[in-house]
Amino acid sequence: MRRRAESVGVSLSVSIRCEDFLLSHEAVQQQPVADVIIANPPYFKLRAHDPRALAHAYAVHGQPNIYGLFMAACSFLVEPGGSWCFITPRSWTNGAYFAAMRRRILCNLSLDAIHVFESRVDHFSDDDILQEAMITWASARASVHGEVLLSTSHGSQDLTESALTSMPVREVIGGGQEQLIALRSQTDQLDAFSATFDTYGLKVSTGPVVAFRAKSSLRTAQGKNTVPMLWMQHIERMRVQWPRNKKQEHIAATASTAWMLVQNAPLVVLRRFSPKEDQRRVTAAAYVGGLPGAVLGLENHLNYIYRPGGSMTAAEALGVSAYLNSRVVDAHFRAVAGSTQVNAAELRKLPLPPHDVLLSIGAACRPGMSLAEVDRIVESALGLGNHSKRRRRANG
Ligand SMILES: C[S@@+](CC[C@H](N)C(=O)[O-])C[C@H]1O[C@@H](n2cnc3c(N)ncnc32)[C@H](O)[C@@H]1O
Repeated sequence: MRRRAESVGVSLSVSIRCEDFLLSHEAVQQQPVADVIIANPPYFKLRAHDPRALAHAYAVHGQPNIYGLFMAACSFLVEPGGSWCFITPRSWTNGAYFAAMRRRILCNLSLDAIHVFESRVDHFSDDDILQEAMITWASARASVHGEVLLSTSHGSQDLTESALTSMPVREVIGGGQEQLIALRSQTDQLDAFSATFDTYGLKVSTGPVVAFRAKSSLRTAQGKNTVPMLWMQHIERMRVQWPRNKKQEHIAATASTAWMLVQNAPLVVLRRFSPKEDQRRVTAAAYVGGLPGAVLGLENHLNYIYRPGGSMTAAEALGVSAYLNSRVVDAHFRAVAGSTQVNAAELRKLPLPPHDVLLSIGAACRPGMSLAEVDRIVESALGLGNHSKRRRRANG
């Protein structure tokens, strides 16, 4: 940097300090010291009792990631009118874990621009979940036009070709305590819907069977008191495929396991983790009945949607799983969720079409149908089919 600066007639003085930035005098004092902060911070999880997490407790909720603490700490250090620029994974833009740091940053700074790299990079992998990277620019002054510039590129190669859009700050930063940051550069087709699973009396939960704790109840062969035990491998798009001759695909249904088993009734079962190369963020199966036993085991790497105190109909389970697997919902999750995995909290917030529309989707679907068929049925039920045809024609 010094050589480059000299070549354009600028003298650069550099100071490299070998200390922990988060425990440094500046970071702890929280007084402005810099006109510009540019950072590519470290990225790893900290224990809640780590001295750095304690020193920046104002930005911690649950288990912090060190990069979020760098972002929050630096947001105090920008002089009025100065700038702040960070390259990070996308996960800080949503999720409860980052809510406290988001509030702090958005209180200290105004968002100016965001660039998202759509290719997911190993550099930011978290528990094997690849993350998209983003660059965020903010400044210590009131937002001038009330707009945030948004751009996306696949990687750094096509950076110069990235399309630029802008969105009002109030649409980028969600209301409420969470202050989620939405990076939608085009209107979300689900914006018109105000219902969620809760509206229809449906609940999203995580599979209650934690395999290592339930070890003594899991069985490899069917027995007198066993019922099907579903794992990720049994969940295919639009259908549950059981048995698969997999180890431990049965579980003893006894008084001691009853609390962790769910009613054998129509359900929607989702994988909580999807392969990195998967084309859609959600893999949801409609379970419409047919497995033996009064109850079922659902392993902890699954989420499921059910009706507490009642049951879903087969058409409802098919309708909900088709909707979840659809291209429209995939686009929604890509816009609002940073990681490749959609968690139960994000599912609970998913806008849903009117209940009779979900039922009509379900009536037209059958277990195991292809994604192309699912997209056609969902888009036509949501009235998007003609719209996309028109657009295609308009684009020649
Ligand atoms: C993603 S690298 C970026 C390096 C460099 N800024 C760049 O852009 O090439 C993050 C750097 O932060 C350093 N680091 C990790 N924890 C730190 C801490 N608590 N305080 C200061 N530096 C830290 C790491 O050693 C690593 O060099």
